[in-house]
Amino acid sequence: MEALRASSFSLFQFTTIPARLPRPRFEKPMLNFPINHRPNSHISSTSHHKEPESRLFTAASPAVSTVIQDSQQGEKFDWYAQWYPIVPVCDLDKRVPHSKRVMGLDVVVWWDRNESGWKVLDDRCPHRLAPLSEGRIDQWGRLQCVYHGWCFNGSGDCKFIPQAPPEGPPVHTLKNACVAVYPSTVQNDIVWFWPNSDPQHKDILAKQKPPYMPELDDPSYTKSMGNREIPYGYEVLIENLMDPAHVPYAHYGIMQVPSPKDR
Ligand code: FES
Repeated sequence: MEALRASSFSLFQFTTIPARLPRPRFEKPMLNFPINHRPNSHISSTSHHKEPESRLFTAASPAVSTVIQDSQQGEKFDWYAQWYPIVPVCDLDKRVPHSKRVMGLDVVVWWDRNESGWKVLDDRCPHRLAPLSEGRIDQWGRLQCVYHGWCFNGSGDCKFIPQAPPEGPPVHTLKNACVAVYPSTVQNDIVWFWPNSDPQHKDILAKQKPPYMPELDDPSYTKSMGNREIPYGYEVLIENLMDPAHVPYAHYGIMQVPSPKDR
């Protein structure tokens, strides 16, 4: 849980400010493993077959172990068996699909008006692998691929193949025509996803929920959320956020900061 909270900072920042009680709150250390551990360096693959990066980290692949073993404490942490925040809802437009990369996975986030929910699908069309995030929402509220127009519902089922003859076999119902769907939910006005599309995790939300941050839903707090892609790991950002002494100098001229009182 603590490592999961830490990981959220690599995706977007959110701040909550108590309206009347400006007292800093410090939580216990967020890391479950020594800070110089690079998570990816502990991902071991038993396969020598080189796959594209986004496939390497697909937790559904049986060839990849994503469990981190802490050699000192014997604890295990599976990076692909956790909820991850993808994007604040306020940054999403229901009219278009959105491309996101989280934990090495390329996903498309889109509003399924037929089910009134945000959906998170693999960002690859099963036909010719075009990014579904570059497609559109069609007039029936389906996600339509930009390349040949295949249409998918929020469960990843292919509902329409424009080139398939209507009197022919229902090829769109074949499993190979479906898109992988990740479990997802909205909590604290944030879209979260579970980075494993294996059907056995379909109902994971009933067993395990994303970490809840009550301050984000508390109207006595002021909150602001932002979403920024950053080309480094969460541990670097956390180290930076926990080092306020750098702010007046590293952000000189670009942020409003109090002038130093002493010389
Ligand atoms: S690549 Fe998506 S429909 Fe052809």
